[in-house]
Amino acid sequence: MKAAVATGIEDVDNHIHVKEDWPKPTLATAIDSKTGKLVSELKDAHLIVRVLACAIAPGDCRLFRGKTDMAQLPKYGRPYVLGSDICGIVMEVDDKNSYFQVGDKIIARFAEPQPVGMCAEYSCVKTEFSEKCPSSIPAIHACTLPSSAAAAKNVAEGFVSKGDRVLLLGASGGVGTFLSQYIKLQGASFLAATTTQAKLAESLGVDRIIDYRTENWWELESEFQGKPFDKVIDLVNGENWTRGARSGTKVLPKKVPYVQLIPGVGTEINMTGLGIGSFLGSMLGRKLVSKCHPSCPKWEIPQGLDLPPGHLKKVLGDVESGKVRVILDSAGPFQFTSAGVRAAMRLQQSKHAHGKVVIEIAKDE
Ligand SMILES: NC(=O)c1ccc[n+]([C@@H]2O[C@H](COP(=O)([O-])OP(=O)(O)OC[C@H]3O[C@@H](n4cnc5c(N)ncnc54)[C@H](OP(=O)(O)O)[C@@H]3O)[C@@H](O)[C@H]2O)c1
Repeated sequence: MKAAVATGIEDVDNHIHVKEDWPKPTLATAIDSKTGKLVSELKDAHLIVRVLACAIAPGDCRLFRGKTDMAQLPKYGRPYVLGSDICGIVMEVDDKNSYFQVGDKIIARFAEPQPVGMCAEYSCVKTEFSEKCPSSIPAIHACTLPSSAAAAKNVAEGFVSKGDRVLLLGASGGVGTFLSQYIKLQGASFLAATTTQAKLAESLGVDRIIDYRTENWWELESEFQGKPFDKVIDLVNGENWTRGARSGTKVLPKKVPYVQLIPGVGTEINMTGLGIGSFLGSMLGRKLVSKCHPSCPKWEIPQGLDLPPGHLKKVLGDVESGKVRVILDSAGPFQFTSAGVRAAMRLQQSKHAHGKVVIEIAKDE
């Protein structure tokens, strides 16, 4: 079958290839990325899916950078098939499953923490990370939902209450475009957000757009003093914490919940050598500062990728009913060719995708 394969690290042009002769998985031959065992030997149920569309995310770039192998590289190593979320048609069901049937249109997500195996004509997925997809949602939209929209819904429903004034840091990426909408759906009364994409953010319900290239939100003290934010949600990290939240700015009330979807667009994780110690040390340090310093926000880490029962079904319902819109970066959907997949990865690596980055694998008829 055709598959987008990562043969090495970092260099998109030399190490990403759409190969024509990659082995097609079946339930008898597919290998689990975490254990390296045949999926048929595992307790959980799997499906073989003919893929229609595949979405990528920062996790795909993290693995391709080669500094997170300790956690993310599949047991069988490189080369691996890249891609993390799909929409497709079920071709094979295993006998541990009683819900999915051959011919169902579904969405499915990778098994955390290994974003692999999806950008191919056929893929093997776990039923626990899959859901039936209404035929009215096009595959190029549906494939964006299992990680990014699901995480956005988790964060908004977990932390935002009716009437809240919310500050969202990073509104225009894969998660931010869903999260802006979910924050408003939760009944937030006011949403300020950092982004360079004013028109897009406005269309998603953002009330006050803060272009971080020309304004630092933590310096807007005269505008926001006396109008406290109830929640801050940070998808970016970096100086938002060091120069912003930790600085004692009057923009934030003392001990306001500061919810950070880790690692954040502005953070590169390095798990090689001393890198892992420095990442864990910085997280621990932040927890301590947040706990002990009287004017520091209350730092919280949500479980973005949790899938409570029925979660994916509800996300699909939000899109089907028109409550939530899917935003694709206008450079896509990308073609399922070496040039197309490389362009998609370059855009995701740029950290300036506006909406989701999607590769169309086959026509959705
Ligand atoms: N822990 C979890 O469960 C979980 C789940 C999902 C995602 N995540 C993480 O959440 C983060 C966001 O994911 P994503 O898919 O939304 O990433 P993404 O699509 O790559 O985000 C790109 C966006 O980031 C914006 N951006 C870049 N620098 C910025 C800055 N300094 N200030 C404000 N915005 C900035 C860009 O907007 P401009 O072009 O306007 O600059 C761009 O639209 C990533 O780190 C991801 O790994 C975690």
